[in-house]
Amino acid sequence: AAATLYEAENGTISQGVVESNHAGFTGSGFVNLDNVAGSSVEWTIQAADPGPVTLVLRYANGTAADRPMTLTAGGTGTTLSFPGTGSWTTWRTATVRVTLTAGANAVKATSTTANGGPNLDSLSV
Ligand code: GCU
Ligand code: CA
Repeated sequence: AAATLYEAENGTISQGVVESNHAGFTGSGFVNLDNVAGSSVEWTIQAADPGPVTLVLRYANGTAADRPMTLTAGGTGTTLSFPGTGSWTTWRTATVRVTLTAGANAVKATSTTANGGPNLDSLSV
């Protein structure tokens, strides 16, 4: 099936703001997470069937340091690396396998270090 795209700016944002000052995002902007551990974006995503899927997170990190986040879905958290992309206008993807239940699933990305997360553009499934 075709991928379903969930914009970061349409998620539930805790400790972050929607911005559009770095080109290359899709939709109306991206989420600039606060540079603190615990800043997060949460989406409700729909799955037709239970089982494993690959989540694709589109992001930019204009620094040299990794900005890891914990991806939580179905009660299981996985730490995902978001290495530097070279500039804040260079967007790349990071992927993680998670197991969904049929119907609505909460998927949350939470910054794990004091640097916060990368700028997040979207999540696709
Ligand atoms: C810069 C950049 C922001 C980014 C921030 C950061 O201020 O313009 O988009 O979120 O750095 O380091 O997190
Ligand atoms: Ca930030």
